[in-house]
Amino acid sequence: MPSWTPLPTHDGSFTFFSTEFNEAFHSSQGAQAEAFAKFVQASDLPERAGAPQLCLLDICYGLGYNSAAALESIWAINPACQVSLYALELDASVPQAAVAAALTQIWRPQTQEILQALAADCEFHSERLSAKLLIGDARQTIQQVQIQADAVFLDPFSPRRCPQLWTVEFLQQVAAKLSRTGQLATYSRSASVRTAMQLAGLRIGTLPSCSAQPHEWSEGTVATASEAICLTPLSLMEQEHLQTRAAVPYRDPSLQDSAEQILARHQAEQQQSGLESTSSWRRRWGIR
Ligand SMILES: C[S@@+](CC[C@H](N)C(=O)[O-])C[C@H]1O[C@@H](n2cnc3c(N)ncnc32)[C@H](O)[C@@H]1O
Repeated sequence: MPSWTPLPTHDGSFTFFSTEFNEAFHSSQGAQAEAFAKFVQASDLPERAGAPQLCLLDICYGLGYNSAAALESIWAINPACQVSLYALELDASVPQAAVAAALTQIWRPQTQEILQALAADCEFHSERLSAKLLIGDARQTIQQVQIQADAVFLDPFSPRRCPQLWTVEFLQQVAAKLSRTGQLATYSRSASVRTAMQLAGLRIGTLPSCSAQPHEWSEGTVATASEAICLTPLSLMEQEHLQTRAAVPYRDPSLQDSAEQILARHQAEQQQSGLESTSSWRRRWGIR
């Protein structure tokens, strides 16, 4: 099992750092806060919690924070809600290490019990929850999941580190798992990811940032196939971002290529692209 070193974040919760991907699992601002704000609130789960049943798909389960935040938020509003949870994760040692290092103690006792069972047995069943953790590459495991999810959390490492899970082809798989009114939430505001979502047939909205800093223009992206759901429109600056070379999407036609192959294909497409350079867009909008 790789060794995972807990890293503190600013809200008092801990995360891990991946030496393989050279990236932390959460924002340094707050791991637990990020789960609530960028995934649970962004996918409108509190507004949906009155429903008798909800289905969740947590892509890149990691320490299980997004699933934990979702379950606690739903049951705080509607303790009787029946939840089906499917979680996808490459490395079983991550949830196991989170439990072993007691990082999951930030959650309520009943939530901790669920996270422990998922880490140990990859499943948990109770009167109001049926949860499964599928271990493996999400590009393959997603194909075993036959669901129509009300909320999808998309939380891979960043596109440069883990392009496999941000491609048009993978996002097409993800879009097919969303219910008619389901909502996908991700922390990514990358133009390539947003374009890939649009090419996968989704409408996109922004997750507005509370910061006044121009370089903090958005906290993430929300997507849905539904015309009836109200999304926060992209600002003019974000719309123009989608007209730059940064918006060339990642491709993985066979859903089997390595990160290096996907990055090389992306770079070649960007070089051939006639789109505006992203640096000139940055200069125009005063983004560092
Ligand atoms: C940014 S972290 C996710 C954090 C997580 N949502 C949480 O709340 O702790 C990314 C996760 O994606 C997993 N991962 C990386 N490549 C993957 C793949 N191809 N399929 C599934 N999971 C993957 C990593 O092991 C890591 O746990």
